[in-house]
Amino acid sequence: MQLDDLYRQVIMDHYQHPRNQGSIEGGVGDETLSVDLKNPTCGDEITLQMKIEEGLVTDVRFKGTGCSISMASASMMTEAIKGKPVEEALALAEEFRKMMKGEEFDADRMGDIEALAGVCRFPARIKCATLAWHALERGADKKN
Ligand code: FES
Repeated sequence: MQLDDLYRQVIMDHYQHPRNQGSIEGGVGDETLSVDLKNPTCGDEITLQMKIEEGLVTDVRFKGTGCSISMASASMMTEAIKGKPVEEALALAEEFRKMMKGEEFDADRMGDIEALAGVCRFPARIKCATLAWHALERGADKKN
C-alpha cells in the first residue's frame, strides 16, 4: 500500500468516525470554555470545547460542519491533546503549523496527525486543516 493511500484511509477514518465529537457535559463554566471559529473561505464552522483543570486538558469535544480535512483534523487534534498539559497541546499546534508550511516537524509527536502532512501541497486546504488548531490556540488564550 502506498503511503498516500494509508494517509487517506487514516483521514477518512477520522472523518467517518470522529473522536470526541459533541459537547462537554455540564456546559461552559469555570473550567470549560468554548470557542467558535469559521473558515472564512468556505463558511464552515467549528465549536471547540475544552475543560482545563490545573493546566491539563481533561476533556475536549468538537462540533461543526466542514470538509473531510477539517473534521478529520479536529478529530485528530482532540485525540492528541486530551489529558495533556495545555503547554504540550500548544507545542503540538506549533508542530502542526510547521507541517502545514512544509517545514521540518517532529513526526514522532504527531502520530495519526502526520496523515495530514500532504495538505501543505494544497494551499486552499490549509485553512481547512488548521481550523481546529486555531480554535485550540484561541481557547488556550482565553484561559490565560
Ligand atoms: Fe470548508 Fe474545508 S471546505 S473547512
